[in-house]
Amino acid sequence: MCGIVAYVGDRTAYPILIKGLQRLEYRGYDSAGIALMNGKTNIYKCKGKVKDLEHLVKDQDISGSVGMGHTRWATHGEPSDRNAHPHQSMNGKFIVIHNGIIENYAHLKKELTNRGYSFNSDTDTEVLANLIENVYLEQKVSAELAVRLALTRVVGAYGLVISSPEEPGMLIAARKGSPLVIGVGDKEYFLASDATPIIEYTDQVIYLNDEEVAVISRQGLDLKNIYNDTKTPEIKTINLSIENIDKGEYEHYMLKEIHEQSNSITETFRGRIAMDESKIFLGGILDVMHKLIDAKRIVIVACGTSWHAALVGEYLFEEYARIPVEVEYASEFRYRNPIVDKDDLVIAISQSGETADTLAAVRLVKDSGATILGICNVAGSSLSRETHAGVYTHAGIEIGVASTKAFTSQITVLTMMAFLLGNKRQVLPAADYKALIHELIQVPDKIAEILKEEKNIEKIASIYKDVTNALYLGRGILFPVALEGALKLKEISYIHAEGYPAAEMKHGPIALIDESLPVVVLAVQDRSYEKMVSNIQEVKARKGKVIAIVSKGDKVVKKMADQVIEIPNCHEALSPLLSVIPLQILSYHIAVMRGCNVDQPRNLAKSVTVE
Ligand code: G6P
Repeated sequence: MCGIVAYVGDRTAYPILIKGLQRLEYRGYDSAGIALMNGKTNIYKCKGKVKDLEHLVKDQDISGSVGMGHTRWATHGEPSDRNAHPHQSMNGKFIVIHNGIIENYAHLKKELTNRGYSFNSDTDTEVLANLIENVYLEQKVSAELAVRLALTRVVGAYGLVISSPEEPGMLIAARKGSPLVIGVGDKEYFLASDATPIIEYTDQVIYLNDEEVAVISRQGLDLKNIYNDTKTPEIKTINLSIENIDKGEYEHYMLKEIHEQSNSITETFRGRIAMDESKIFLGGILDVMHKLIDAKRIVIVACGTSWHAALVGEYLFEEYARIPVEVEYASEFRYRNPIVDKDDLVIAISQSGETADTLAAVRLVKDSGATILGICNVAGSSLSRETHAGVYTHAGIEIGVASTKAFTSQITVLTMMAFLLGNKRQVLPAADYKALIHELIQVPDKIAEILKEEKNIEKIASIYKDVTNALYLGRGILFPVALEGALKLKEISYIHAEGYPAAEMKHGPIALIDESLPVVVLAVQDRSYEKMVSNIQEVKARKGKVIAIVSKGDKVVKKMADQVIEIPNCHEALSPLLSVIPLQILSYHIAVMRGCNVDQPRNLAKSVTVE
């Protein structure tokens, strides 16, 4: 959370920073600010979004070819002008933007207060700026050394860009826990939390590693770790184009990403399924395949929507590969004393590959001997670098804060892995394996069919847009889809919604049912169908309103439900991929009708890099 962008070179920094901040706004939008260096330093910052910042700087001096910008997701201190970044140290020697949390900031603040420092904000970042300045002034060292020495005292996570007006033309970047990418141009450098602000200028990037500090100027780049060891920068070429980050004809990124799903799933299995549909290849896990085949147990760790994908994975691995699975919230797992050993396979799922809790869970099991895999959408992300092996989802960049296409691509990867392992472990007969692969490759066309139902779903949205609560019910492999449907509704429309396994309804939620409660029911043709029909009857008997997701041609539920949304018939294993699409569309339209900011829901951020 929080987005940072910076530039040093010959261009005017301001447009690069503003455009960069707009692209990073998904990481937080509580306040925005920039610092521009042109002999003197101008800092402009305000509560609100990047457009408020643009308004603020109208008619101001925005010259300078060195600068930094920040968009904030508040951790320490309310969203306000004074808590907005950049922060300046008390004597003006350092200017800092920060993504992360300085956990020992209270202790450091006290120490600095005793040394005469005063503070203008409630942030941990200002404490860091003053800590660096204090080291700089007391130890009379260079700005770069002051940064490194100060960082050895910091507990927590940081992606930082720092400038010192006393050494103009230079930016210092440092990272631990929070991502930071350096774009390498010709006598110019770009810094950002992800690559989106820099793709029109360069495709050459360096991903900073934890505890590395880069000193950047027009003259070049020096890389060390905070302990003064020199590091060799590894320059990589990224494959990301402007079209990927454009809304195109769509009103919102979320709608665009919902509509991209037939393509994004195709991208997920591109090159991974044999032409004759007889085999699945997952190159990223080939080297550890023998360990996967022999795994005694799979533990999946994830957060948010990725955790829901993990729950779908649990059904798939147990059903098709016959390996016992446990699914854990990474945030809980990391603070237990989990029992994991060398026979386990740990899978971490994360769209961004930067979620702090998921990374911490991975680090926790590093010494257990378990094989650790990542399922991740962002090439070069921390997760991809901290796991033994992994599979990229290749869904393309996802910008809407509410995850949609990343979710279906994660499930596609899990489906492929489960089928592949079932085959390798000889628990999935070759004919079934082939039949399932054949079914899987039909999914994109079936999704395209569902997307044509958008108008119908929009009408249903208009009926329920003013409700205050909603219940989502599913069974078996569709229970996680019920959870995901409820999450989508609550996060973008602020309607309270709960997902439940349908049979559990009788143990509590049934008390909520009356004529004002919409119940979204996943009642497709699968092994639970009859039982779902009974659950629908129970809802109707209490005058609840039923919106049912049914298989094409369904007659029974159609007669009972208030509204139905049909999805094409498919194999049970693949029904999560289809049935979640109408739930995404329903939430989207309800949120739009309620006037909510769909792409940037309040209080949320896409990439949760703090715990
Ligand atoms: C945030 C996002 C969610 C996402 C979750 C986990 O809460 O708003 O959309 O599912 O983080 O993120 P990850 O990048 O680890 O999948």
